Amino acid sequence: MTPSHPVTEDVPSSDIGVTMTAPQLGVVHHGDGPLLVLAGAGSGKTASIVTRAGRMINEGVIPEHHLMLTFSKKAAEEMRNRLDGLVGNALSDRMQIRTFHAFGDQFKFIFYGLTNTQQLHRENSPT
Ligand SMILES: Nc1ncnc2c1ncn2[C@@H]1O[C@H](COP(=O)(O)OP(=O)(O)OP(=O)(O)O)[C@@H](O)[C@H]1O
Ligand SMILES: [Mg+2]
Repeated sequence: MTPSHPVTEDVPSSDIGVTMTAPQLGVVHHGDGPLLVLAGAGSGKTASIVTRAGRMINEGVIPEHHLMLTFSKKAAEEMRNRLDGLVGNALSDRMQIRTFHAFGDQFKFIFYGLTNTQQLHRENSPT
């Protein structure tokens, strides 16, 4: 995923307005099923993921069906900002772009009705 080896195929909806590398395009155009990407710092991971999401939105995947999780609030904010620029706030606001922790917290609330201050216990855990 090295940005220094661009390929000729442009992705017009690239979030960074540059020609993406072949591995990045592989991420952008990957179809159904899981895809594991191992890539170093600053190699263009977020650009690939954001452009992939933009491609899927363009192809009609409804925004609410996107779930994009990352570890830090800063990284989640960055993903959201870059998606804002790519697909516009009206669509990106409908997408789930969060930290793993925020999503877990939301999940806990939706499925168990628990708030931040309450603990989620496994059903078989001792009381
Ligand atoms: N194909 C490319 N050609 C030129 N520049 C690129 C390309 N892909 C990404 N970049 C640029 O490289 C920088 C890092 O990109 P990006 O933030 O997507 O990488 P990252 O792997 O998510 O980084 P981090 O490890 O910090 O999260 C950005 O400035 C981005 O615009
Ligand atoms: Mg990143």
